[in-house]
Amino acid sequence: MLLEIRDIHVHYGNIAALKGVTVEVGEGEIVTLIGANGAGKTTTLKTISGLRPLTSGSIWFEGRDISRMPGHKRLMAGIGQAPEGRGIFPGMSVLENLYMGAYARKGSVDKDLQEVFELFPRLAERRNQPGGTMSGGEQQMLAIGRALMARPRVLLLDEPSMGLAPMLIQQIFTIIEEINRRGTTVLVVEQNAQQALQLAHRAYVLETGRVVKSAPARELLDDPEVRAAYLGTGAGAPGA
Ligand SMILES: Nc1ncnc2c1ncn2[C@@H]1O[C@H](COP(=O)(O)OP(=O)(O)OP(=O)(O)O)[C@@H](O)[C@H]1O
Ligand SMILES: [Mg+2]
Repeated sequence: MLLEIRDIHVHYGNIAALKGVTVEVGEGEIVTLIGANGAGKTTTLKTISGLRPLTSGSIWFEGRDISRMPGHKRLMAGIGQAPEGRGIFPGMSVLENLYMGAYARKGSVDKDLQEVFELFPRLAERRNQPGGTMSGGEQQMLAIGRALMARPRVLLLDEPSMGLAPMLIQQIFTIIEEINRRGTTVLVVEQNAQQALQLAHRAYVLETGRVVKSAPARELLDDPEVRAAYLGTGAGAPGA
C-alpha cells in the first residue's frame, strides 16, 4: 500500500471527530471518501497531511510510519493536498501561486508548469491575474494545479466539485481522471457521491467519524443503503 491510515482517532478539544478510521490507498488508485457534513472527511485529509495531530492510531506512507512527521516533510515526501476552501494566495498572481506549490522541491519546474497549463488552459490564459480575483471554479483549478507543482505521489483533494456549476463539475472530474492516468495516486473527498463513485476505483463511506462501508466504487453505486443515503435514488426517494 502506498498510504495506510490505521485506526486513527482524532479530537478537536474533547470532541471526537474520528473514532477509528482505517483507509488504504494503493499505488495508482483513485480512492474516494464519501459522507455527510461533519462525517470527518476533511479531518481525515488534514490528519494525513499533518495539519491535525493523532490521538491514537497511525499513518503509513511508502511503508514508513509518518504519524509524527511534520506537515512540510510529508509534503516533501510526496503527499500533496488541495485543501477545502482552496487556500490560494489572493494577492499573488496565478503564476506565483503555482511556483509556491513547487517551493519545497528541487529541480526545474518548467515541465510541471507546462503540464498544469495543459490540464488547465484557463490558468495559462490568466497567469498574471491575482489569484484572489479568479472565479470560484478557477480558484479550484489553481489549488489543484498548485498541489500538482509539488509533484506528489498521492494527491489529496477535498471536495474539488464544491460550488462549481454542473458543467464544470464534470470537467473537474475528467481532469482528476487524467491526473491519475498520468501516474498520480488520488484520494478524493466528496459530497457529490454519484460522480465520485463513478470516478474512483474504491470507496469508503464515513459516518460520524467511522467507516461504515468500504468496497469497489461501482458496487456502492448499486448499494441500496448508499443509494438511499447519498445518491437520493434509493427506496422511498422521489422517483425511485
Ligand atoms: N476546528 C474545529 N473545532 C472543533 N470541531 C471541529 C473543528 N473542525 C471540525 N470539527 C468537527 O469535527 C467533525 C468532523 O468535521 P469535518 O470537517 O472533518 O467534516 P467533513 O466530513 O469534512 O464535513 P463537510 O462535508 O461539511 O466538509 C464535525 O463534527 C466538526 O464539527
Ligand atoms: Mg469537509
